[in-house]
Amino acid sequence: MEQASWVPSSVDLDRPSAARMYDYFLGGSHNFAADREAAKSVEQIFPGMAGASRANRSFLRRAVRYLLDQGIDQFLDLGSGIPTVGNVHEIAQQADENAKVVYVDVEPVAVAHSTAMLATNPHAGAIQADLRDPDSVLNNDTVRDMLDFTRPIGLLMVAVLHFVPDSDNPEKALARYREALPKGSYLAISHGSLEGINPDGLEDTEQIKAIYRRTDSPLTFRTRDEVAKFFTDLDVVPPGVVPLSEWHADSADAYISAYVGVARKP
Ligand SMILES: C[S@@+](CC[C@H](N)C(=O)[O-])C[C@H]1O[C@@H](n2cnc3c(N)ncnc32)[C@H](O)[C@@H]1O
Repeated sequence: MEQASWVPSSVDLDRPSAARMYDYFLGGSHNFAADREAAKSVEQIFPGMAGASRANRSFLRRAVRYLLDQGIDQFLDLGSGIPTVGNVHEIAQQADENAKVVYVDVEPVAVAHSTAMLATNPHAGAIQADLRDPDSVLNNDTVRDMLDFTRPIGLLMVAVLHFVPDSDNPEKALARYREALPKGSYLAISHGSLEGINPDGLEDTEQIKAIYRRTDSPLTFRTRDEVAKFFTDLDVVPPGVVPLSEWHADSADAYISAYVGVARKP
């Protein structure tokens, strides 16, 4: 079994992970045989997965640029993933070299690689934490040192909440994050959905869910209304909670069955 020097000892190389499968879809190299095998099984069912992953990254970049335009200069990125082209700190610090970014992920390879990449960056950091435990994130020393909770923050939850099953009560976690955000902060979400999927394709999505059940991150698709609930008490900015391709699209990205939204805390 391959064992590169950057692999944290806590990683089970035989078990696929959603983070490393996503890295594979995006053409990255921080994935192992088990991840590639699972990712290729997904692609056999849904050949558009790589394009869909790139389209999601494209939304992430659009959302960060939008928040920068609103004056946001500090970001908390939950479920940030394995670093790849166009990371949040790169976009933010191109616009403002003092912009602050904290990456949060539960997956050790994502955190190790982010930490290594940021070693010489005084304004960005990475921590390992589970977003389902908001207090472990919000009270983390790096988060508290790096981000100023008296000023607006951009909270990013991009392509991550569909890895939180209803049984883990994502709404409760969201309520805690919304409460902790200072006024004028923003929340940006993208979330996988089956609404609009051709009924003939629903059997395929069951097979994809079965593949993700082999990881620590089983998939929960949600409806537009369910995604909109994550923005409770916030002011959703135009064009609202919409299909990903309809949110400030500036290029013809591949189709992705996901809802997105950005909202401001009044
Ligand atoms: C599909 S990737 C998205 C990465 C990035 N946000 C993006 O959109 O390009 C999902 C990431 O969420 C992470 N993740 C899943 N469940 C999580 C949890 N409960 N807490 C923190 N991170 C989680 C995974 O490890 C993975 O890196």
